[in-house]
Amino acid sequence: MSDDHTHVQEFFGSRAADWDRRFPDDGPAYAAAVAELGLREGDRVLDAGCGTGRALPPLRTAVGPTGLVVGADLTPAMLQAAVRAGRDREGRLLLTDVAALPLRSGTLDAVFAAGLVAHLPDPGGNLRELARVVRPGGVLALFHPIGRAALAARQGRRLTPDDLRAERNLRRLLAGSGWDLTAYVDEDARFLALATRAD
Ligand SMILES: C[S@@+](CC[C@H](N)C(=O)[O-])C[C@H]1O[C@@H](n2cnc3c(N)ncnc32)[C@H](O)[C@@H]1O
Repeated sequence: MSDDHTHVQEFFGSRAADWDRRFPDDGPAYAAAVAELGLREGDRVLDAGCGTGRALPPLRTAVGPTGLVVGADLTPAMLQAAVRAGRDREGRLLLTDVAALPLRSGTLDAVFAAGLVAHLPDPGGNLRELARVVRPGGVLALFHPIGRAALAARQGRRLTPDDLRAERNLRRLLAGSGWDLTAYVDEDARFLALATRAD
C-alpha cells in the first residue's frame, strides 16, 4: 500500500459515514451530469472513485436493467456506506485503485468520475488507465457539483494557473492520456469536462 493510498483511505474513511448528509441537495446535479454522457439502454459504464455511490442510481436509470454499472473506489469505508445506502443494488462495487482496474481493455462505453482527478497521484497515468477500459469513441465525464473558484474559496485557498482542472491544463493532460476534451463548463454550481476516447 503506497503512502498516497493510505492518505486517501484515511481522508475519505473518516468522512464516509457523513458523506451523503454533508451534501444532501446534490442529487439533481449528479443526474444532470450523468445525462451529458449520452448513455443508452444496455451501455456499460464505470463510476471511477464512486465513493458512497451517489451517481449509481442515475447511471443505472440511464443504461437500464440490461446495462452494466460498475462503481470503483479505493476506500473501504466509502463502499461500505454505499452498501448501507442500498447502492450496491444499482451496480457492482469494486474495491480497487483506478490506476489498475480489473477490467478488460475497450469494454466500457463511458466513465463518470466525480471529485476524483484532484486526488490522483498520477493523473496522466490514471486517466490513461481509464482510457484503456473504454472503447474508441466512448466518453469520459469529470464532474464536480461545485465550480473550481467556489471550491477554492470554500477550502480557503487561491486558484493558481497550474491548477490541474484549468481548461488549458486539463485539455493537455487529457490529450496525453488518450482523450479529446469536447466540452468544458466551470460555473459556481458545477464543473463538468467531457472527453471522447481517441482512436
Ligand atoms: C471527493 S470523493 C467523491 C466520491 C463520489 N464520486 C461523489 O461524488 O460523492 C473522491 C473519491 O475518490 C476515491 N479515490 C481517490 N483516489 C482513488 C483511486 N486512486 N482509486 C479509486 N478511488 C479513489 C476516494 O476514496 C473517494 O471516495
